[in-house]
Amino acid sequence: MTIARFTAATPRTGRIADARRAGIVMTLVLFASLTASHAAQAQSSAAEGEKIAFDRSKGNCLTCHEMKGGTLAGSIGPALTDIKSKYPDRNELIAIVTDETKRNPQTVMPPFGRNHILTEKEISAVVDFLQTL
Ligand code: HEC
Repeated sequence: MTIARFTAATPRTGRIADARRAGIVMTLVLFASLTASHAAQAQSSAAEGEKIAFDRSKGNCLTCHEMKGGTLAGSIGPALTDIKSKYPDRNELIAIVTDETKRNPQTVMPPFGRNHILTEKEISAVVDFLQTL
């Protein structure tokens, strides 16, 4: 009786272990593909963000900021360089571009989000671009 129960239990345990292993492998594969697609997405979003930032009818950031890849930049605002190390938290950059008057009520920088000059998605793309500067 005891032996029968033992032998019956053994393959079941094996199957559970196999299922668990398969689950772990699937999770790893899923995680790897998500990470890869996220990196690819951030890259294409950064390119899109550059276009929006330089577009005179969109971000028009070059009016006030020097930015890598841009020409005829103004100098009302600081040159935007090394942004990722200055603002490692992307939410901070989202906040600055959305409404810098919250941080500095006297700023001349337009509140791109509050004034609906840019959509949330466009601001996110611009921030992806800022993080490459
Ligand atoms: C009319 C001028 C003007 C425009 C246009 C402008 N900014 Fe600014 N920006 C400023 C000024 C001035 C500051 C300095 C901080 C302040 O005034 O609060 C600033 C600060 C910043 C900062 C913080 C920089 C740092 O080193 O701390 C970021 C990031 C930024 N701007 C991004 C942008 C982006 C992206 C755009 C375009 C979507 C943009 N700005 C458009 C004037 C401008």
